[in-house]
Amino acid sequence: MTRDKKLIIGNWKMNLGVQESSLYVHKLAEKVQIHRNVEVVLAPTMLTLQTLSLQVNFRQFKLAAQNFYWRDSGAFTGEVSATQLRGIVQYGIIGHSERRHVFHETDKDTRAKVQAAIRNGIRPVLCIGETANERAIGETDDILYDQLIGGLANVTSEELNEVVIAYEPVWAIGNGHSASPLDVKTAVRAIRHNLKHLYGAKASEAVQILYGGSVTEHNAADYLELSDVDGFLLGGSSLDAKVFSEIVEKAHKSKN
Ligand code: PGA
Repeated sequence: MTRDKKLIIGNWKMNLGVQESSLYVHKLAEKVQIHRNVEVVLAPTMLTLQTLSLQVNFRQFKLAAQNFYWRDSGAFTGEVSATQLRGIVQYGIIGHSERRHVFHETDKDTRAKVQAAIRNGIRPVLCIGETANERAIGETDDILYDQLIGGLANVTSEELNEVVIAYEPVWAIGNGHSASPLDVKTAVRAIRHNLKHLYGAKASEAVQILYGGSVTEHNAADYLELSDVDGFLLGGSSLDAKVFSEIVEKAHKSKN
């Protein structure tokens, strides 16, 4: 994957049942235009991924798992593996702040999941971001570095090409308090700088880095102006077909 495409991922979280998801995708399909310079990815409930994989036009929408377990198979009651998701999803979200903070996932978990995704031909979307408290005490850079290294250890520079990083400050998620473009610019620059340090200039320049946290149709263009931001991980805004399609249009029209 190269950075000439913007990537817009809609994470529906634990919203919409099987039928509702299917109906909503119908609605989205009417509204969201297909553009060569934008890849649109939907992350619905795990329950409906199989159905939607048969319903969607993959030129219009790709699918993502919101989560999965890192082992490929075995006695892990209640879990779903990347191997089982293979062929159904193209992306897998890893280390979302809700996984880290509600379900206590660690960098060790994210690392194992990144490996599992790559092993199974699924593009990992590694989410990293500081809490309000960590920002207040000046730890943002350290947290971003630790979570980046924590998730990517064992990833080779060839494999890095498949990885997407989402910068999601925890304090900006789901509350309308989006990070300022300057904050996003600073954090995304730091992430790319760290990638460069780890993998060299060429490999790091090719990595898609997204922003997520209270992005709306009103503020999307401000972030898209930043040359380092390659798209969005959307929560709330992905549940409104009109808003979602407007953000996709903004990505299509962005000059970067
Ligand atoms: P939000 O969620 O867009 O509702 O802030 C973003 C996310 O959780 O990825």
